[in-house]
Order: sequence, then structure tokens, then C-alpha cells
Amino acid sequence: MIFVSRRERFNAAHRLFKPDYSDEKNLEVFGKCSNPNWHGHNYILYVTVRGEVNTDTGFLIDLKDLSEIINKYVIDKLDHKNINLDVDFMKGKLASSENLAISIWSELDKALKDSNADLYMVKLYETENNIVEYYGPEI
Ligand code: NI
Repeated sequence: MIFVSRRERFNAAHRLFKPDYSDEKNLEVFGKCSNPNWHGHNYILYVTVRGEVNTDTGFLIDLKDLSEIINKYVIDKLDHKNINLDVDFMKGKLASSENLAISIWSELDKALKDSNADLYMVKLYETENNIVEYYGPEI
């Protein structure tokens, strides 16, 4: 069993809020991320897959292929977008890093179905200090 990771980056806007809260209550619960006129983060995404090395190629998965999958199913949908308004897999969800990591996992898990590699971890840096890791619904 070997683990391979790919790093990708995207910039996106969001707002953490509940529509039934007042702006004051949202500020109290969600802090600066509740700013009514949105704000952005420079997110960094680590995707780790695991499996057995293919003896023909010496790879678990070609990292170019992994990067293409991450870009097609995740980064292209998020980069320079508004997470609350523009992203199909975030519709109706609170745009927290936790929910984003879980949703990214779900998109990538589907996209990697036919690959030699199994999704192991999604790690999302919202800032250099705020980091979320998700290992799938079974952990
Ligand atoms: Ni924020």
C-alpha cells in the first residue's frame, strides 16, 4: 500500500451565514466570514490517494491524470467563483471548509471509481492557520 498526494490551489469567495439569523447574530456565530458582501480565500487543496503500485508503470496513479481529475471535477468549478452561488456541489450547503472538504471528497470519490487509486484524504487549507482534513464517511 502506497500513498500519493497532489496539491492544487484555488481562489474563491464565500460567506458563512444562516439566512434566518440577523447580520449581528451571523457575525457573532461566524465572525469575519459572515461579512454580508462576501470575501475570498486563497485555498490550498491536498488530495491523497492510496493503493498498490502498478508494476508496469511504477506508478500508483499518473499524477498528471490525478491533477486533471481534480481540476475537472473540483478546481474548475471553484476557482474564481462564489462558493455560495456558483458551485453545483455546494448548493444549499453552508460554505464552511468542513462542508467544502466533504463535498470535494464526494466528487473525487465518484471521479476516481475506475482508477487504480482509492481516495484516502482531502485536506483543505482555508488559510495557513485553518485546516480541515476529511477521510471519508466511514471514519
Ligand atoms: Ni471566510
